[in-house]
Amino acid sequence: MCGIVGYIGKRRVVPILLEGLKRLEYRGYDSAGLVYVNNDDTTLKRHRCEGKLANLEEHMEALNIDSHVGLGHTRWATHGAPSEANAHPHCDCSGDLVVVHNGIIENYNSLRDELIVKGHCFNSETDTEVLAHLIEENLEDDLAAAVRKALVKVEGSYALAVLWIKQPDRLIAVRNNSPLVLGIQESGGSFLASDIPALLPYTREIIFLEDREMAILKADSWEVLGLDHGNLIDKEVQTITWNATMAEKTGYKHFMLKEIFEQPLAILNTFRGRLDPETGQVNLPEAELDTEYLNSISRICLVACGTSWHAALVAKYWLEKWTGVPVEVDIASEFRYRTLLLDDSVLVIPISQSGETADTLAGMRRAKQLGAKIVTICNVVGSTMTRETDGTIYTHAGPEIGVASTKAFTSQLTALFLLTMLIGQERNTITPSEARELGQALIGIPNLIEEELPRLQEETARLAEDFTKCRDFLYLGRGCNFPIALEGALKLKEISYIHAEGYPAGELKHGPIALIDRDMPVLALAPKDGVYDKVISNVEEVKARHGRLILVGSAGDANLLRITGDLITLPAIHEDLNPILYTIPLQLLAYQIANRRGCDVDQPRNLAKSVTVE
Ligand code: AGP
Repeated sequence: MCGIVGYIGKRRVVPILLEGLKRLEYRGYDSAGLVYVNNDDTTLKRHRCEGKLANLEEHMEALNIDSHVGLGHTRWATHGAPSEANAHPHCDCSGDLVVVHNGIIENYNSLRDELIVKGHCFNSETDTEVLAHLIEENLEDDLAAAVRKALVKVEGSYALAVLWIKQPDRLIAVRNNSPLVLGIQESGGSFLASDIPALLPYTREIIFLEDREMAILKADSWEVLGLDHGNLIDKEVQTITWNATMAEKTGYKHFMLKEIFEQPLAILNTFRGRLDPETGQVNLPEAELDTEYLNSISRICLVACGTSWHAALVAKYWLEKWTGVPVEVDIASEFRYRTLLLDDSVLVIPISQSGETADTLAGMRRAKQLGAKIVTICNVVGSTMTRETDGTIYTHAGPEIGVASTKAFTSQLTALFLLTMLIGQERNTITPSEARELGQALIGIPNLIEEELPRLQEETARLAEDFTKCRDFLYLGRGCNFPIALEGALKLKEISYIHAEGYPAGELKHGPIALIDRDMPVLALAPKDGVYDKVISNVEEVKARHGRLILVGSAGDANLLRITGDLITLPAIHEDLNPILYTIPLQLLAYQIANRRGCDVDQPRNLAKSVTVE
């Protein structure tokens, strides 16, 4: 996610911008820039650098800037690779108006086309630059009014800050589905930032903007208006007591917990602008998959490692059910060395959060050499895999700091579900009514997870008390939930160091049942789906051998409580989407147990966030 900092007041602005951006580095970025009002109060000066903030700091060091109004930005690329030209701030045609932005402008293509017809010239590949020209198009004598008019046409998410040289005494800030906070100093001076850490060196007096609110910041005053009606809004000034470290995690103890709670937004941002809510029609232009090709493919190969491999295993169930195309799933370290029978009729899909995993990258390169078409599912714009692939489907989870993947995983599942719907629609194996049903089911997931997270956090905390000292754990699942059993086991083992195995529930009697005794906790995923009765039979086998059962199943299923008191229930949704929902309690259970064991949850021993070596 991008980082935004702004200031207007008596102090020199450049040091404030650089320090603030430095405190937002944990959000992840690939370029940085800033803009300030020149002393003559008649021109704006912009400086942008690709790469680390240090490059911008070095560039600014030599300049002794005595300006008191400005904006800074660190960019996490979503549209357009990392480069100086794509770095924020972006300006309008005149160079008199600049914007910095965090979020996704869904209709930027159509807006850009309209503006080009009106004579606007664009200098970047970003969605953000559209905002600068759109505001310019609406400018008369008041910046706030122009911003409000421009945003009427904008669809998507934005934390936006705007500066216009014709009104150098103010900064405009707008929040819509992307965080933005204000800071004020009693002695004068107003601040804006994506997140609290950037403001803590200067003030603890914070105003939290809500969605569809706009702020007008001046050196010695501030006001907040409703974006839609322009009405003045009375905002509370809150005093923040966090220290800087706590603030980076917005009060969560670990990045992993923060990222678990960010999943509703990550899933929403991954399908935003790609799924028509009315028809269920999916649109993935960056995947470079046309109807003719999709009707010519003989099979699909999914290739990944670790948690991403679990996403691939789930996708196999979806793709074969809804597209009729045979699917192979490979662990990349095996795929890269085995005999591959690939040609141009095979669609190969590498899945990787980082886009740098050595085994997955090597497998991708081999597949490409053999003539297969490559569509990569990745979370990092401009990563190696995305530069070598034929097409890409980006997950918009934002940077994932915790080594244990959480929001990237559920975003990968979201992207794979969208891809399944796209291929099914192009091959006419999904009817329009099925498309509507599947689309509605996916759209409902973010709010549902948002509602369930607080309760699940409490219930898993209670459960964790009994299992913190276990030495072994078995996770069971069937059908598209079997890979979630694998994922739950991986989460537990990688952050708590407890040995845990995921198994197909039906496999129990082929060996693992020998392990069952009173000391062996067995967690079974038992939603009311097509294989529910089979899972319950397997669970009864465990109970008969005095295994310690934890069940995760459907709310209202009285049968589960008859079997065990250690029960986590979830709302009933379209059964194909249970893998996304059922992952959440397993992530939280692993986190709660690891936290109680005093493990380094964000940086577990021996692990790296991106495995760039074999
Ligand atoms: C997941 O929690 C692990 N950190 C690990 O298995 C990870 O999924 C694997 O290394 C693949 O990484 P990638 O998605 O960046 O390719």
